[in-house]
Amino acid sequence: MPGSTEHLVVVGGTSGIGLSVARAAHALGCQVTIAGRGAQRAADIAGSIGPGATGLHIDLEDTASIRAALADGPAIDHLVLTPIRRLATSVKDFNIVEANRLAHIKLTGYVAAVSAALPRLKPTSSIVLFAGLSKANPYVGSTMISIVNGGIVGMTKTMAVELSPIRVNCLSPGLVPDSPTWERAIQQGATAIVDAMAARTPARRLASSADIVHAVFFLLDNRAVNGIDLEIDGGIQLV
Ligand SMILES: NC(=O)c1ccc[n+]([C@@H]2O[C@H](COP(=O)([O-])OP(=O)(O)OC[C@H]3O[C@@H](n4cnc5c(N)ncnc54)[C@H](OP(=O)(O)O)[C@@H]3O)[C@@H](O)[C@H]2O)c1
Repeated sequence: MPGSTEHLVVVGGTSGIGLSVARAAHALGCQVTIAGRGAQRAADIAGSIGPGATGLHIDLEDTASIRAALADGPAIDHLVLTPIRRLATSVKDFNIVEANRLAHIKLTGYVAAVSAALPRLKPTSSIVLFAGLSKANPYVGSTMISIVNGGIVGMTKTMAVELSPIRVNCLSPGLVPDSPTWERAIQQGATAIVDAMAARTPARRLASSADIVHAVFFLLDNRAVNGIDLEIDGGIQLV
């Protein structure tokens, strides 16, 4: 668990899993900063987390906004990056403009955010980057998502070496049914897909947002874990 005197910054903390991480850290007494697109929106969502939580505008497609938000401020104990641009594109029907936007956010954007925050990180700080199981279990339409999630694993390893002794790990969730993205999909008729995947999973359940938060805190907290890709998928890759 992050300590009650620690400062956690979650880029992508305005929604979904990032917001769950921010809420859980705030409940532990941490100082919490969240970032997403739109200063007022980020501030409003930070306000909903609780007293002392701060919101920042960062658009990972806009390098100036990354530097403006992260260059100055209090020391950062833990940095978590979750942003994603959801995109269905295949090799046969490739949308290069949208593909480049996703690559910008999840590859160069993540690196730019870590680079901008670096002067505020301490030797004991840790970083968690979000990848996803589509790197290992692709589906038609996951071309770019699979590529960027695979790229995050390489990014994790090179950062763990270059930024030593700062620890850098990544986390690859499988489908998280209680994340807002999947709650919306279930409302739109995806229940059968989710149920089928849970039934096929050796654990007979899919990861919840709470399971993912638990895993993020493990990666942030354990001083010997470095350069790994933690897959939280109930064992679905085994079958
Ligand atoms: N949910 C799942 O089932 C699942 C499964 C596998 C992997 N994952 C991975 O887990 C991570 C979190 O997923 P999620 O479902 O929680 O996503 P989400 O609810 O869609 O949240 C995405 C976050 O990214 C931010 N964001 C999007 N574009 C941005 C940009 N250009 N600059 C800065 N921030 C940006 C959004 O904030 P604003 O809109 O405020 O900018 C939002 O806070 C993702 O990396 C995803 O690939 C999730």
